[in-house]
Amino acid sequence: MNVHEQVQEEGVNRRKGLFITLEGGEGAGKTSLMEEAARVLEARGIQYMTTREPGGIRIAESIREIILNPSHTEMDARTEALLYAAARRQHLAEKVEPMLAQGITVLSDRFVDSSLVYQGYARGLGIEEVLSINMFATAGRFPDMTFYLDIEPEQGLARIAAGQGREVNRLDLEGLSFHHKVREGYRIVSGMFPSRIHEIDASGSFEEVAAALTARLDAALKDFGV
Ligand code: TYD
Repeated sequence: MNVHEQVQEEGVNRRKGLFITLEGGEGAGKTSLMEEAARVLEARGIQYMTTREPGGIRIAESIREIILNPSHTEMDARTEALLYAAARRQHLAEKVEPMLAQGITVLSDRFVDSSLVYQGYARGLGIEEVLSINMFATAGRFPDMTFYLDIEPEQGLARIAAGQGREVNRLDLEGLSFHHKVREGYRIVSGMFPSRIHEIDASGSFEEVAAALTARLDAALKDFGV
């Protein structure tokens, strides 16, 4: 049963929260657009909380530090995939699932698609293989809707270099070809989940991208009967 059916069956008072995720490559503007998405939920009177991956809670934040530490250059690709999956499990069990069960909508900066793309495709571990360890980690929980912010890697990295993003981490230090693979990976994963993943062109100004996200999010919320 999907959330929409659940909403109809249980009525508004026992509505389950929606699980919404934002995805995208480096410099797509995800962090500011998270705030925009939160404003949309707020305006619709939807009770929500925001979180991020890898992290969002103490144990997962510690795992995040290990993964993103720029000095950990010897990290094996499978170790990285398993650490992301471990952080995801803890975050899901400790924070996301309890919120959804209380009827609170969860808006997360990244989730399983990041692993499918970065570890599965860009690192070359295989999307299916990474999906299978993540099915174990998430017990099959997928977001109800995902917004993928699409941007040319050159433009995204230029935004970070111009100081419009956040601090540089280990993955930013990858070559341009890695970031191109990330973009290709997102295209492939979007094709695997066409009804869940909504692609948004993130190449325009912040106002343009924010307006596109608002429109798509509104439409998706309507589809879910919210
Ligand atoms: P973060 O500082 O959150 O950057 P961003 O603003 O791009 O989200 O760093 C998260 C990095 O971790 C980002 O480069 C993507 C990567 N990542 C993976 O490789 N696999 C994953 O499963 C997740 C959640 C993130």
